[in-house]
Order: sequence, then C-alpha cells, then structure tokens
Amino acid sequence: MSERICPWWLGYLLAAPVRKLAQNPATILSPYIKKGDTVLDAGSAMGFFSLPMAQLVGDAGRVISIDLQQKMINGLRRRAVRKGVEKRMEMRVCTTKSLCIDELADKVDFALAFAVVHEVPDAARFLREIYSSLRNGGTFLLSEPTGHVTKEAFANTIAITREIGFHEVSAPLIRRSHSALLAKR
Ligand SMILES: C[S@@+](CC[C@H](N)C(=O)[O-])C[C@H]1O[C@@H](n2cnc3c(N)ncnc32)[C@H](O)[C@@H]1O
Repeated sequence: MSERICPWWLGYLLAAPVRKLAQNPATILSPYIKKGDTVLDAGSAMGFFSLPMAQLVGDAGRVISIDLQQKMINGLRRRAVRKGVEKRMEMRVCTTKSLCIDELADKVDFALAFAVVHEVPDAARFLREIYSSLRNGGTFLLSEPTGHVTKEAFANTIAITREIGFHEVSAPLIRRSHSALLAKR
C-alpha cells in the first residue's frame, strides 16, 4: 500500500465518537441528504460518515460505501451490523485506479469524498467517476484536511472539478477542512 494511503488501523481512530466534537456527521450532512436518497461515500474507511448517512436515507434509501482497503470495509460492515443499518448499505472494495462504479451512472443523489482526494493517485479520474455517478442536479461534498492539503492544492482540485463540469454551490464551514459543495449541471 502506498505511503500516501491512510493505514487501515487509523480507521478505528477516524471512526471514534470524539471526532464528532469537531466534525459532526449529522450536522454536516443533513442539509444535503433526505429519506429515500441514494448516496455514495467514496473512501469511507470504517464509516464515520457512512453510518450517519444510513440513518439519514432511512429504510427506503441506499448508501454505497467504497474503500480501497478490505480491512476498512470489514470494520465498516461490523459497525453497520451493530447499528442495524447494514440492509441499507452496499460496501465495496475498489482499486487504486478506479472506484468501479460505472453501473451507478446518473443514479446518485449525493456523494461525499471526505479527506480522500489527496490520497488518490489520479484525482481527475476519481472526480470524473463521481460526476458520472450523480444524477443531474445531484450534489457532491468535497472536503480535504487543512493539515495535509494547502489552500492552493485545494484550489487546484476545485479547478479540476470545474473542468469536469461541476459547478460550485457553496463553501460549507467544516472545522479543520477546506470544503466545497458542488453540483452536477
Ligand atoms: C483519511 S481516510 C478518510 C476516511 C473517511 N472519509 C473519513 O473522513 O473518516 C481516507 C480513506 O480513503 C481511502 N482511499 C484512499 N485512496 C482511495 C481510492 N483511490 N479509492 C477509494 N478509497 C481510497 C483510504 O483507504 C482511507 O480509508
């Protein structure tokens, strides 16, 4: 596994409840997700965001959680079963080259990539795949950690999203993060 990839054992720390003091998933995500939605968590790790997403979409909705590392997905599955939300979730392992989501084209209402893009070798491809998965008008919350990603690097990523066809809706304030809410035209 490349050095830029978050080690699997950090998945436990990332999913720790104490993180909610700085980044509360329900507060961050509830403006964008409604009951019955199909939502994508790209680079989910052990589900700090995926599990609250499963609460927000309800029984009629679907969460697709994807990660590069099988151990992250194993941890997510255990936690989803404990919370009783696994039936609303699809948990998948992808490759470094692709999220492997061609069959989701135009089906996703909301996508999240939180603290992931700086780990991805081909960010343009990753972002294009997310764009294709969204329905027209679907939204995408892109967030990167200020500790690892400079303002300039984040601006470069936003420039790539513009070339792909995303437009910027807002810049949500999320602690320790650069964030943008983007939409598919
Ligand atoms: C820093 S963690 C953030 C996890 C989660 N989004 C959160 O905020 O708790 C980054 C995650 O992205 C995953 N990842 C890295 N490169 C990826 C890729 N190309 N495709 C999918 N997931 C990837 C890593 O395995 C890791 O679980």
